[in-house]
Amino acid sequence: MTVEVRPVEDLDQFTEAILAIGQYFGMVPTEERMQRFADLLTFKRTHGAWSNGSIVGGAGAFTFSLTVPGGDLPTAGVTVVGVFPTHRRRGVLRSLMRAQLDDARERGEPLAALWASEETIYGRFGYGLASFCGEITLAREYTAFAQPFEPRGTVRLVTAEEAQGAVPPVFERIRLQWPGMFSRSDLWWEQREFDDPEERRDGAGPKRWVVYERDGAVDGYAAYRHKFGFDAGSTTAELRVVEALGATPDALRDIWGYLLAVDWIATVKSSLLPPDHPLFLLLATPRRMRYRMGDALWVRLVDVGAALSGRRYSSDGSLVFEVADEFCPWNEGRWKLEGGAAERSDDDAELRLPVQSLGSALLGGISFAELSRAGRVEELKEGALARADALFRWDRHPWCPEIF
Ligand SMILES: CC(C)(COP(=O)(O)OP(=O)(O)OC[C@H]1O[C@@H](n2cnc3c(N)ncnc32)[C@H](O)[C@@H]1OP(=O)(O)O)[C@@H](O)C(=O)NCCC(=O)NCCS
Repeated sequence: MTVEVRPVEDLDQFTEAILAIGQYFGMVPTEERMQRFADLLTFKRTHGAWSNGSIVGGAGAFTFSLTVPGGDLPTAGVTVVGVFPTHRRRGVLRSLMRAQLDDARERGEPLAALWASEETIYGRFGYGLASFCGEITLAREYTAFAQPFEPRGTVRLVTAEEAQGAVPPVFERIRLQWPGMFSRSDLWWEQREFDDPEERRDGAGPKRWVVYERDGAVDGYAAYRHKFGFDAGSTTAELRVVEALGATPDALRDIWGYLLAVDWIATVKSSLLPPDHPLFLLLATPRRMRYRMGDALWVRLVDVGAALSGRRYSSDGSLVFEVADEFCPWNEGRWKLEGGAAERSDDDAELRLPVQSLGSALLGGISFAELSRAGRVEELKEGALARADALFRWDRHPWCPEIF
């Protein structure tokens, strides 16, 4: 079967390319909905795969910056990847991945990142699992903190309109502290955060916005929904936290203090929380969160040199990597990391690893020691693993608070 992959050129083609994944979600594509999504994703970043004159697959990439430790890198935010069930396992995905990564390289994006529908799909294309996240279901009676805290600031309910002015600037401050978070354009904020159509509510009420203020500045915020419920005279309601972020530890703690104290609910639910979320140490009974962890962001170094040079490191020292990268062979070979920059080198390699393992380590969420225990990196010179960990470690686990 021959497949031709190229960017879509009009709304009909865009709709077919999106339907390649949309059908698995039961999506009904209206013209208005498709146009709005096309405005955000753009035609030029939406690849279609044609076979016999019809689109049989699609893949898109958002253009954003991903926070890496101490830095911020242009990234292809890979999304809406799908192949029609009539054309599965004939290499359509492979052709799409080829075109998409070549495109990211031409655009000068050192990274591609994604959330995977299944963990088995993207490793073969050079993506490495870079972070974990988990969902919580916390019964209201177990929401007490281990130590009482007096809130340092105040929480104020605001309209979505007011939130539109107050929240994006504080989000930007927060996301630059947190590897794994990505930049949101004005259109992203409008379409993905503030628009709140019924079909996205999953049976709950509209998004409620609160801002957290201290000394006259907005230092945090939360968006949440009430899912009302009542049984035998008592509440079964859920408070569904969509996003709760703080620019300071106090702000994050106080925002959660507020959320956990909302009355007349039975359960607080949230998801996409990193495994080092402060709630684990704030709550008196963290076990009661029933935290269920899974894979979060997958990261692919499109350009090993630029990606490694684009983050900061936790120690001085140098390291020579021997990188294997079958799908993007321009990355193959020896790279020396020294003084925060990575360059090609003829020095003896000290660690040998596939590019996937660099993707796992880049954000600081997975250590070289862990990778080594899983057989995903080989230490060629004694002490190189420990040196790599001293360089790459960061003060927090990566956190991507939104699936894109
Ligand atoms: C996942 C999906 C895009 C794969 O498309 P495809 O055209 O069948 O994939 P290809 O034929 O190009 O397969 C490329 C390789 O990936 C493997 N592969 C593809 N899908 C896989 C899956 N779900 N699990 C494990 N391996 C998979 C193939 O076996 C093949 O392996 P090879 O390199 O050893 O030959 C398609 O099955 C699909 O649309 N699934 C439903 C939607 C979805 O999950 N999309 C991903 C969103 S993140």
